[in-house]
Amino acid sequence: AQAYAAGLMGQAPTVPFAVDALERAAEAAMTPQAFGYLRSAGSGTTEGANRAALDAVRLVPRMLRDVGERSLGIELFGRRLPAPLLLAPIGVQELAHADADLATARAAAARGVPMVFSNQASVAMEDCAAAMGQGPRWFQLYWTRSDDLAESLVRRAEAAGCEAIVVTLDTTMLGWRPADLDHGFLPFLKGQGIAQYTSDPVFRSMLARPPEEDMLAAAQLFTRLYSDPTLDWQRLARIREWTGLPVVLKGIQHPADAARVAGEGWDGIIVSNHGGRQVDGAVGSAAQLGRCVDAVAGRARVLFDSGIRGGADVARALALGADAVLLGRPYIWGLAAAGQAGVEAVIDNVIAELDLTMGLIGCCDVRDLGREYLA
Ligand code: FNR
Repeated sequence: AQAYAAGLMGQAPTVPFAVDALERAAEAAMTPQAFGYLRSAGSGTTEGANRAALDAVRLVPRMLRDVGERSLGIELFGRRLPAPLLLAPIGVQELAHADADLATARAAAARGVPMVFSNQASVAMEDCAAAMGQGPRWFQLYWTRSDDLAESLVRRAEAAGCEAIVVTLDTTMLGWRPADLDHGFLPFLKGQGIAQYTSDPVFRSMLARPPEEDMLAAAQLFTRLYSDPTLDWQRLARIREWTGLPVVLKGIQHPADAARVAGEGWDGIIVSNHGGRQVDGAVGSAAQLGRCVDAVAGRARVLFDSGIRGGADVARALALGADAVLLGRPYIWGLAAAGQAGVEAVIDNVIAELDLTMGLIGCCDVRDLGREYLA
């Protein structure tokens, strides 16, 4: 109602409500190279499949259920959250806005929505944490070729107040991204998006000269260490020696992998295909969500991303059995279009649409959103 009322008063929205217009606003605010970096792998069919899979999930509204009061809060790893929503780890945010991760961190903290700090952040995790006060935050790791460095990143995250560690498994190598290839664009080589490394004592000890004096050498070392394709289940288990925080595995698509995660006692999975940026031709992520939920069978928390564009999509993912979702590109579009205020507006709009959708389908508590609402 607030959003409609503001419009009736002639107030322009902070960022467009329509998601296509939001994306166009971001495009207008970014260089072609930077905007190209937001695009997907290959011909983009996986990004399309993500949308098609979500669009195939149809909700069946129920009537006359007194939906005057709705509750959106959930509990996740011991923390009460205002909505089943987190901000997905997204790297190199300086491409979207000069305030980069700091704007996102402040927006997340203002709304009480957890921010997942990216391994590829433009701002070191300690600086983002300082900007967030008591706001909830997690850290996302790409397992590097140096276990000492991976350990250091995880220990720093715990010290910076991160409440869970996400290990992203689907990016042992960078996807085939024609937009970046055509632009000859790899931000890391320019020293962009490597702040978690250049602020790390273990990484710095590997350099002849500090990154402040020789960024090229730091960037080159980063590309040599970045994400280890030899990682396997056995080596992953080492993380348990480095931290007692919940560990969530991101990039799960196959129910057999989901079952193994749960069987080995990991704390959660994120059913995700990286927004279609890794495997072109991969299955739409939402098509795998229900199968992964069944395979996990309540033994771990199940989160979802890849294609979430609004609150109705959050409702769809929850109806399939997700405990919460991660918002990806839309908040980066908000960041590009209007900085911190843009991220806040996008979060508000997603939560408002979720609240409205719940009321309209006859569901008062987000924790009750399940398969009985699916066609
Ligand atoms: C990402 N994503 C990502 N994931 C991750 O684990 N670490 C990272 O550093 C990044 N970086 C990143 C950059 C950009 C530009 C994009 C678009 C995505 C993937 C992200 O966490 C999430 O899985 C996807 O964004 C979900 O897809 P949609 O909803 O954005 O299409």
